Amino acid sequence: MNGRTILYTGAAGGLGLETSLLLMRRGATLVAIDNDAAKVAALREAAAPIDTGRLVVSTVDLSDLTGFRAELDRLLAELGGFDIVINNAAIYPSKPFEDFSIEEHQRVQRVNVDAGIVAVQAALPGMRARGFGRILNISSITLSGGWANLSPYVASKGALIGLTRAWAREFGPYGITVNAIAPGAFPTDAEKIHPDPEGYNRMVLDAQAIKRRGSAEDIAAAIAFFAGDAASFITGQTLHVNGGWVMA
Ligand SMILES: NC(=O)c1ccc[n+]([C@@H]2O[C@H](COP(=O)([O-])OP(=O)(O)OC[C@H]3O[C@@H](n4cnc5c(N)ncnc54)[C@H](O)[C@@H]3O)[C@@H](O)[C@H]2O)c1
Repeated sequence: MNGRTILYTGAAGGLGLETSLLLMRRGATLVAIDNDAAKVAALREAAAPIDTGRLVVSTVDLSDLTGFRAELDRLLAELGGFDIVINNAAIYPSKPFEDFSIEEHQRVQRVNVDAGIVAVQAALPGMRARGFGRILNISSITLSGGWANLSPYVASKGALIGLTRAWAREFGPYGITVNAIAPGAFPTDAEKIHPDPEGYNRMVLDAQAIKRRGSAEDIAAAIAFFAGDAASFITGQTLHVNGGWVMA
């Protein structure tokens, strides 16, 4: 990935950090968008032995789409273009459907989906001009229907699959592939919303065909595959990285 510039939202998160490091180790310049100061500090520290010159961090808030676009335009002027976009940042508020206001629902769509649309709008002209692009949308196993109390989140993850297919069709002629990865259950912050962590851990291992918990490295490997040159004939697909829990 030498010479490639990757725009990665939520890059400092539980799954993002390891993936960021892997992509940087493979030579990419990483533009990490994440507004969690503590996580960003941990990313900077972990990336320091690799090459801080290839880590560009922005703490812009993705829920402010206008501010995000302005920040992307600034970064584009500085860096010249994004070859790879990874739409990964997400929020996942949990409560019964009837307790979500429409504003809360819309905020989840704004961060999880609309920010990804803004990212692709910004990156697309350069990708088309160069005849190369990789877009990755991070969906979720929750789309399979097995989870209650996450309706805005599940809707957002479904929207990302729809966009994956629509974009794959439209952008394919320009050498741009678009794929989705649907992680299963990984022990990150996203899991802390569950009230009984040990019971949840047992439930996950029972449900998976593979009897170990997934790790950030498992997701990093899948992202690196799609982002790399070897995946150039794969587009519009969703890869389920879930230890054989839901088989789609
Ligand atoms: N961890 C899992 O088990 C799991 C399962 C299925 C899907 N996923 C998906 O994988 C992706 C990564 O999940 P994760 O486990 O790393 O979660 P995470 O919460 O650790 O990481 C998400 C990152 O996005 C950032 N972010 C959130 N809102 C933001 C905003 N408004 N502006 C800027 N940054 C913002 C957060 O600071 C965080 O670092 C998400 O799309 C998630 O839905 C995770």
